[in-house]
Amino acid sequence: MSVNVFRLAYVDFFSKDPAHMVEYYSEIMGYRITEEQNGITYLSNGYDHHNIVITPSDKQAIRSYGYQLDGGLSLDEVQEKLIATGIESRIQEDVKPGVSRFIELNDPSGNTIELFTEINQPAVGFSGLGINPLKLGHVAFLANNYEETITFYHDVLGFTFTDKIGENFANFLTCNTDHHVINIIAANDTRLHHIAFQVKDASHQYAASDLLAKHEIPIIWGPSRHTAGSNIATYHRDPEDNVVELYTDMDVFVPELGIFEPRPWHTEMPYKPKVWEGLSVWGTEFQLDLAKI
Ligand SMILES: [Fe+2]
Repeated sequence: MSVNVFRLAYVDFFSKDPAHMVEYYSEIMGYRITEEQNGITYLSNGYDHHNIVITPSDKQAIRSYGYQLDGGLSLDEVQEKLIATGIESRIQEDVKPGVSRFIELNDPSGNTIELFTEINQPAVGFSGLGINPLKLGHVAFLANNYEETITFYHDVLGFTFTDKIGENFANFLTCNTDHHVINIIAANDTRLHHIAFQVKDASHQYAASDLLAKHEIPIIWGPSRHTAGSNIATYHRDPEDNVVELYTDMDVFVPELGIFEPRPWHTEMPYKPKVWEGLSVWGTEFQLDLAKI
C-alpha cells in the first residue's frame, strides 16, 4: 500500500495578533471555538475538533498544515515509507488536543505538515453566524523548492495532478474529488499565498461580500471564474493580511476517468487537466502582487 492523504483538515496559524484572528474566524467566518489550551485557540466548522488553529507567536506565518491519511497504513508504517524515501519525520503523541497522534515533518520547501489518521470529532456543527462556509477547501502556497515539493506531494503523499497555470508557475494537485486541495506556486521563498473556503453558491458568496463590506473588509480580487478549477472566487484579507478566498462551483475530479464532471460553463468536452495561460475565463482579469502577499 502507498501513503494516501485524502483531505486537508486544518491550518494552524502563527499569529502576532491572536485576539483579532480569533475574532475574525469566529465572528466573521463563523467558526466555533472548540478548545483553548496554552493560549492556543482551536476552531471548527462541522465535525472536526479543529479546522483552524490560532497559535500566538512573535511572527505571522503558517505553523502547520494538517492532512488526514486514509488509514490504509498505520502511522508507524507511513513513517517507515517516509524513511525509505529519505524523509525525516517525528511521531508526536499527546502534544495537543484533537489529534492525539500524528507524524510531523517538513516538506521540501520547509512547510511543517502533520499527518494523522484520526481527529476527534465533537461535531459542533455550523454556527449559522457570519459567513459560515461549507468547509476549508484548499491552500495555495509559494514554494522555494518548487519541483521537489510537487514531486513530494505527488510521489510520497499520493496527490494527483490536475491543472497547471504556465509550465512553471502554479501546479494544482488534489487528494480527493475537489479540483485542487493544494496549489503550489514557484517562488523564492515559502509562505502562504491564500487559504480557501467553499461557500454554498454564488448568492452565499455575494452575502459574504456584503457581510465583509459591513465590517469594512474589502474584496481585493474577483469575483471571477478561474481557469484552473472553474471556481468562482473572491479574495479578501484576514486581520493579519493572510489572503482568504471564498469560492463556489469548483470542478469535480473523477480520478477513475482522469476528467472533470461536465458543467455547462466548460469550453471543451470532456474537460481534462491541462496547462492554462491566464487566471480568469471571464476576462475580468485579476492580479495579486506576489510581493504583497
Ligand atoms: Fe484558490
